[in-house]
Amino acid sequence: MILERGSAVNTSEIRQRLETLDSQHLANLSAGEMVEFVDLMQVYEGAMREISTKLEVLDTEFQVQFSHNPIHHMERRLKTANSLIGKLERKELPITVESVKDHIFDVAGIRVICNYRDDVYSVSRYLSDQSDIQVLRVKDYIRNPKQNGYRSLHIIYAVPVFLTSGPHYTPVEVQFRTIAMDYWASLEHQLRYKSDLPDARLAEHSQTLLDCARSLQNVEVQMQSIHRDISGSPQEQESDDEMLEHLRSLGEEQRGKGNS
Ligand code: GTP
Ligand code: MG
Repeated sequence: MILERGSAVNTSEIRQRLETLDSQHLANLSAGEMVEFVDLMQVYEGAMREISTKLEVLDTEFQVQFSHNPIHHMERRLKTANSLIGKLERKELPITVESVKDHIFDVAGIRVICNYRDDVYSVSRYLSDQSDIQVLRVKDYIRNPKQNGYRSLHIIYAVPVFLTSGPHYTPVEVQFRTIAMDYWASLEHQLRYKSDLPDARLAEHSQTLLDCARSLQNVEVQMQSIHRDISGSPQEQESDDEMLEHLRSLGEEQRGKGNS
């Protein structure tokens, strides 16, 4: 199941939105560049669909081979013009189509929410091994969770989109995570944008969230182990103890900081 976050590319709508954006920098975009931008968004949309289809095919094959669907669901979205401009401004880059092409790798984004951690690693490995796409960058926040407890596997792929002018290798950011990691990340994201909380409450909630990340991981390890025992789907060799130890040490580091 793919959940569309925002609508697919609607070129006249993008054009309209671009024209009504109130960023001062947008005044620098020529009519030609706006057309180029709209065309570019269509290519990203194509790339996103290519990767989604590959993932759906893998999920179906798993169902046939192992009687197990590794993917619980997927979400996908294209960055809006507003958020693209915001990101270019934050990175102090010129607001041009070239900047987007050269520096922004998450214009097209897919979130793959898997049932178990084994699924995260098998699906990402089978996708990464496909000969027509390239892996541009991997950030494994599952093996190396962030300080706040965030876990997910981020991979940026370059996928060829075949246009009349030939293949255009286009980046797509894929975030692989389990249902539990997604559940956690949604609340943490909400907390991060809750700016009206007093600092002390924010710090307390952040600490609790870190504890929750650890508890969720514990639950996942146990459920994964039952699932491994009763299903024949591919398994990951990574030691659970190592990952738990890593999260535990993050907790101690944070507590240490709180006390100092
Ligand atoms: P930006 O895209 O500029 O953020 O830099 P990056 O691509 O180097 O970042 P990274 O790959 O680390 O993270 C990209 C995306 O992952 C973000 O846009 C979020 O969707 C998600 N993400 C990263 N860190 C966190 C986090 O701590 N909490 C939550 N909830 N999501 C995160
Ligand atoms: Mg990003």
